[in-house]
Amino acid sequence: MNHRLAIFASGFGSNADAICEYFKNNSAIKVALILCDRKQAGVFNVAKKHDVMSVYLDPLLIKNPDAIVNLLKEHQITFIILAGFLKLIPVEMVDAYRGKIINIHPALLPKFGGKGMYGSKVHEAVAAAGETETGITIHEVNEHYDEGDIIFQATTAVEKNDSPQRIAEKIHALEKEFFPRIIEQQLLKAQ
Ligand code: GRF
Repeated sequence: MNHRLAIFASGFGSNADAICEYFKNNSAIKVALILCDRKQAGVFNVAKKHDVMSVYLDPLLIKNPDAIVNLLKEHQITFIILAGFLKLIPVEMVDAYRGKIINIHPALLPKFGGKGMYGSKVHEAVAAAGETETGITIHEVNEHYDEGDIIFQATTAVEKNDSPQRIAEKIHALEKEFFPRIIEQQLLKAQ
């Protein structure tokens, strides 16, 4: 089966970039749409760079999940990838794409997850808790923040002197290494 992916992001878009790069020569898997809820976000440049259509999710559209689902269906999207998307996915979208929405979280869930736990806040919390390891969690999305079934985790050591910035660097390296490959595995399983 051929797949058409929609990536939802809110920020810089380094994960979206890595995903577009990974699938650029894949005839069966295409990144078809990038959706973002922040007008100035770097991910719009990523969309341009890879010649992928982008959509700004303005507050009105965000409040109208049926319209988002319609848009995804119009573009024949088969899977949704959340790559640094900060809003909660509405239940209508979860229902329309159950088991077909994948998120990456920059810590080892169930630790350091939930509402408000994103970006640098996660790495600050990991450093403050004196954790000796952290990592990434790739998981299915349900109607609650960071609670869907875990698909994959990878860990990295946290040294005593690691700043939150240093932890973030380590996490980004893991994300680049694993997220596109795990997405591909999930898509192949869903055939
Ligand atoms: C990543 O660390 C991701 O795990 C988290 O938000 C960050 C997004 O970074 N959920 P980017 O926009 O992909 O560069």
